Amino acid sequence: MMKLLPVPEILIGESSLEKTVSILDRLKAGKVLVVTDSGIVKAGIYDQLKTLLEAAGKTIVLFDRVQPDPEINLVREAVELAREAGVDAVIGLGGGSSLDTAKVAAALVTNPKDINAYIGVDLLEKDALPTIAIPTTAGTGSEVTHIAILSDDSEQLKKGIVSAKMIPRYAILDPKLTIGLPPYATAVTGMDALIHALESFTSIHANAYSEALGLRAIELISKNIRTAFSHGTDLKAREAMLFGSLLAGMAFANVGVAAAHAFAYPLGGMFHVPHGLSTSLMLIPVMAFNMTGNEGKYEMMAQSLTGRRDVTAQTALDEIERLVADLKLPRNLAGVNVPESALPIMALKVMDVTRLLGNNPRKVTQDDALAIYRFAYAR
Ligand SMILES: NC(=O)c1ccc[n+]([C@@H]2O[C@H](COP(=O)([O-])OP(=O)(O)OC[C@H]3O[C@@H](n4cnc5c(N)ncnc54)[C@H](O)[C@@H]3O)[C@@H](O)[C@H]2O)c1
Ligand SMILES: [Fe+2]
Repeated sequence: MMKLLPVPEILIGESSLEKTVSILDRLKAGKVLVVTDSGIVKAGIYDQLKTLLEAAGKTIVLFDRVQPDPEINLVREAVELAREAGVDAVIGLGGGSSLDTAKVAAALVTNPKDINAYIGVDLLEKDALPTIAIPTTAGTGSEVTHIAILSDDSEQLKKGIVSAKMIPRYAILDPKLTIGLPPYATAVTGMDALIHALESFTSIHANAYSEALGLRAIELISKNIRTAFSHGTDLKAREAMLFGSLLAGMAFANVGVAAAHAFAYPLGGMFHVPHGLSTSLMLIPVMAFNMTGNEGKYEMMAQSLTGRRDVTAQTALDEIERLVADLKLPRNLAGVNVPESALPIMALKVMDVTRLLGNNPRKVTQDDALAIYRFAYAR
């Protein structure tokens, strides 16, 4: 039997942000927690939402202290505010960090234990407060996923709360909110979305639903990411990127991401390399490792990446290599100041990320892990 996760009601398009008020009305929500970060406030994006909500007489409780790759103690503060404030709904406005924090805050209003009690899979007992997710990056797909990723600095690890009870009720994808995202951030978040699509496509759990979503996501992202990067105000490219990251989110939520994400976790946990960059740094080494035995799927990915039929499995790797260069992203771990001496400990840590390695199309041993990190370091 196959079980597909529910999806939010999804609104996509220019000025869809304006629909937030009618959604809150439908939810009979007068008092709402808005979870965001200082970058979103500075970019004037929060003000757009605030103006709409205040004009409609809504009361806003604001948590604007989310940090990238949110640390568990900071998320705990958002949870405390949500519990004390007595809000009717939660809005997450921002990238994956804000959306994940909003999802956890909404879930922990109705689930009363400490956050640690819910880290893991399917541990929430009650549905979260109604949540509206408004992404400002085309990257994580968090607006449709049942996942929230938290950093635990004390253990130098990233941890996940995974539960369908936390899937946002609504997702609003307004390309206007992403036009101010700088080129570098557009590149790394866009690579994250692409890697969700690629890794879900080759996941051992892939099925017709996830494959259809994944291939279309690969096509949308690879066709539009360079334009979004170099002409940030192009609304068509921005909307296509949001659509691609949404489809990739639906795909990987159902069948998982795999080794590129697993190998990225120690980079994030130990060296705070941002999520999209860490996955992008690990992509080619992991894809090269996984290609053996999966050539047919690589050819299909290559077709979606290039829009051509005359491709081989190797074309998929060549295309990613070209993309990383065009987006001016670093290509190896040395380029982001990860010390070579850390590779063995990272290779130990990655073997614990069994939730993701278990989805990988090729089994990874401890020796493989070190070889993959060494390749990622020096290639
Ligand atoms: N829940 C999931 O399914 C899922 C999936 C993948 C990743 N994640 C998590 O998401 C987080 C990463 O999210 P992210 O990559 O979207 O970045 P982010 O939310 O960490 O934001 C990065 C920076 O970009 C700024 N920013 C965002 N949108 C902007 C805009 N439109 N204009 C100007 N500045 C803007 C923010 O202020 C912030 O400083 C990580 O914690 C990662 O682990 C979650
Ligand atoms: Fe990701």
